[in-house]
Amino acid sequence: MTLVLGIESSCDETAAALVRLGPGAAREIVAQRIASQDDAHRPYGGVVPEIAARAHVERVTPLVEATLADAGLGLADVDAIAATAGPGLIGGVMVGLVTAKALAMAGDKPLIAINHLEGHALSPRLADPALAFPYLLLLASGGHCQLLRVDGVGRYTRLATTIDDALGEAFDKTAKILGLGYPGGPAVERLAATGNPKAVALPRPLLGSPDPNFSFAGLKSAVLRAKQALDAGPDPIRATYNDADIAAAFQQAAIDCVIDRTRRALDAAGEVTALVVAGGVAANRAIRSALEALAGENRLRFVAPPLPLCTDNAAMIAWAGLERLALADFAPASLDFAARPRWPLDPDAAPVRGAGVKA
Ligand code: KG4
Ligand code: ZN
Repeated sequence: MTLVLGIESSCDETAAALVRLGPGAAREIVAQRIASQDDAHRPYGGVVPEIAARAHVERVTPLVEATLADAGLGLADVDAIAATAGPGLIGGVMVGLVTAKALAMAGDKPLIAINHLEGHALSPRLADPALAFPYLLLLASGGHCQLLRVDGVGRYTRLATTIDDALGEAFDKTAKILGLGYPGGPAVERLAATGNPKAVALPRPLLGSPDPNFSFAGLKSAVLRAKQALDAGPDPIRATYNDADIAAAFQQAAIDCVIDRTRRALDAAGEVTALVVAGGVAANRAIRSALEALAGENRLRFVAPPLPLCTDNAAMIAWAGLERLALADFAPASLDFAARPRWPLDPDAAPVRGAGVKA
C-alpha cells in the first residue's frame, strides 16, 4: 500500500489530499480539502495573482494539517509528498511547492514535482482503474484547451491546441459579458439550460479546418456583439432573444467546435482505448454528453472524472504522484526544483500559429 500527500496551489484553489494505492490497484481518496478563493477574487471578475499567492500562504499549512487530521494520520504515515510545480500563477505555485519541500525535508520523504496538466491528464484513471493507455484526451481548463494522445505517464503527444483563448476562458468571458460573475463556467451552464440556442446566430471558428486546433476568440467577440445589440437595440431585437439565449447559443457553438475538432483528432490519433475529457470544463454536463455521443459513434469508451475531480483539486496531484512513484525509473525531485510558470506536456509539439503564449 502506498499513500501520497498531494498539494495544489497553481491558481485560485488551495488544496490538499491523501490518496492511497492499495492491493489489486485499488485507489482511494482517503481525505481531501479544498479552500476556494472565489470570494476574494469575485470583486475583480477574475483571479488576481497577488491576492491568490497571499491566500495560499495563509491557508496551505492549516489545510495540510486538517487533511491529515481528517484521515487520523500523521506525516510519518505518508510515503511521498507530491505538489504542483507548474504551470500556473508563479506565486501560488511557489507557495505549494515550498510547503511540500519543507514537509519532505522534515519527514524525510521523497518529493514529487507534478505538472498540473499531468494531474488533469491522469485524473480519469484515479476514478476509473479500467482506463488503459493509450487514450485520446481533451484537456479543457481555464488556461488550456488541447487534444493529446496519452500513451503513458509522461508520454503525451499534443495533436491540437487553441490558437487564442482556452475554452474555460471563453466561458469565463461570456459570463463576464452577461454579468454572471466569477467563476463563469458553471453560471453559463446553468443559464444556458434555460435558453434557446437557435435564437442567436454565433460563429463556429475553425469548424472543418484540416488540423484539429481550436479558436474561441471570435466566438467571444460575437457574444459581446450579441449582448450589446440586445442592450442597445430597438425593441424588435429585444423581443427575439434574451441573456439565456445568448448563453445557450454560446455553449452550443462551443460544443459544435469541440466535437468537430475532437472528431478530427480521433482520425489523427491512431488506435486508442477511449475518448477522455478532463480539466475544469469537463464538469460541463452538455459538453460531457456531446463527447459521450461522439465516443459512441466511434465505438470507443467515454471516460470523464466525477465532477469534483474535474476542477482543480489535490487528489489528482497525489494520484499523479502515485503514478510517477510506480514508474521503474522514478527518482525524487531535488529540493532545488524550481517552480515553472510554463511547462508543456509535450515539449516537442510544433508551435501553432498565433498560440505563442498559450501552448
Ligand atoms: O481546471 P480548472 O479548475 O483550473 C485551471 O487549471 O484552469 O478549470 C477552471 C475553468 C474555468 O474557466 C471555469 O469557468 C471552467 O473551468 N469550468 C466550467 C465549468 N466548471 C468549471 N466551464 C464550463 N462549464 C462548467 N460547468
Ligand atoms: Zn487546472
